Amino acid sequence: MNILAIETSCDETSIALIEARGDKLPSFVIHANLVSSQIKIHRPFGGVVPNLAKREHIKNLPILLKRLSKRQGQETKTLMKNIDMIAVTVGPGLEPALWTGINFAKELAKEYKKPLLGTNHLEGHLYSFLFGNKKTVSFPAVGLIVSGGHTMLLLMTSLTKWKKIGETRDDAIGEAYDKVARMLELPYPGGPEVERAAKMGNPTSIEFPRPMLDQKNYDFSFSGLKTSVLYYLRDHVSHKKEDVAASFQAAAIETLIGKTMRAVKEYGAKMILIGGGVAANKSLTNALKKACKKEGIAFIPPARNVITDNAAMIGASAYMNTLQKKKRRIVAQSNLNL
Ligand code: KG4
Ligand code: ZN
Repeated sequence: MNILAIETSCDETSIALIEARGDKLPSFVIHANLVSSQIKIHRPFGGVVPNLAKREHIKNLPILLKRLSKRQGQETKTLMKNIDMIAVTVGPGLEPALWTGINFAKELAKEYKKPLLGTNHLEGHLYSFLFGNKKTVSFPAVGLIVSGGHTMLLLMTSLTKWKKIGETRDDAIGEAYDKVARMLELPYPGGPEVERAAKMGNPTSIEFPRPMLDQKNYDFSFSGLKTSVLYYLRDHVSHKKEDVAASFQAAAIETLIGKTMRAVKEYGAKMILIGGGVAANKSLTNALKKACKKEGIAFIPPARNVITDNAAMIGASAYMNTLQKKKRRIVAQSNLNL
C-alpha cells in the first residue's frame, strides 16, 4: 500500500510517501519524508505561536508536495495516481495547525479521488519504532511516549492492543526540558540544548527531586521538578548552567526509567518501545538500553529520522489503523488521546 501522509499538528510541516506491507509484523519503506521546520520562526517567541504555525503550514504544504513529486521524478498528478491512501493527523495538536493539514488532505483526496484516513499523532510516535531495527518484537511490551505535549506509559499486549497505565499529571517531559532551557537562557526548542549543556555538567552536583518515583502508580509529574530548578536558580545566582542541566536531566531520566522498569517487572514485559521527540535524547535511550540489557529484554528505539515530528510515522499509524479497521472523523481534535 502506497501512503501519502501529512503532518501539521505543531511546528513542523511534513509530507511523506511510504510503502507498507504485511500484517503480523508490518514493514515500511520510506520513499520520502520531507520536514519543513519552523524553529527559526518561533524561536524569538520562546515557543510555538499557533497562528504563525498555521500561516507557515499553509505556505509550506504545496511546496513540500511539489518537492516530493520532483524527488520521485514525477508530476504530482502521476504521483497521486499510484497512491492508495492519504493519511492526515487529526489530533492531538494545535487546532489551527491541525486544520491546515486536514484541509489540504481533503482537497487532495477530492481532486484525486483517494480514500482519506485521519490519524492520531500519538499513535504515530508509538509506531515509529516499526521503522527501526525490529528483529525481535515480543509482547507484552511497555511503550513509553515522551514528547513535548505528552508523557505516558502503555502496556501493549499486541501491536494493536494496548492500555494506558500512566501519564503525566501536569507538564510533559519535553515541556519540562523546554521550560528549564528557557530558565537557563538556552534557545527554543530546549530539549536538545539542555542535553548538550548536560554533557558538560556534573549530574550529581545538585539534588533535584525524583517526582512520584516512590509512588506505586505509573503517573508522572514534572512541574515540581521544573519549579525546583527555578528556585535553585533564584537562590544560587552564581551557578554553572551545565551542572543545573545535568542534574535536572538526571532527575528526569531516573524518574522515567524507574517507572518504566517497574512496569516491565509487574507486567512481565519482554520489550520496551519508545517514541516522541524526547526519545532523541541519548542519555535517556542509553540508560534505557542498559536497564533493558540488565533485565534481559529487548529495547527498540525508532530510527533517528522518525523521532521528532514527521509524516512517515503518520503513514505507518494510518496503515496500522487500516489493519484494525479503525476510522476517525476528519476534523481537528486538539485533545485527542490514546
Ligand atoms: O514529538 P515532538 O517532536 O513533538 C511533540 O509531539 O510534542 O517532541 C518535541 C519535544 C520538545 O519538547 C523538544 O524539546 C523535545 O521533544 N526534544 C528533546 C530532545 N530533542 C527533542 N528533549 C530532550 N533531549 C533531546 N535531545
Ligand atoms: Zn510529536
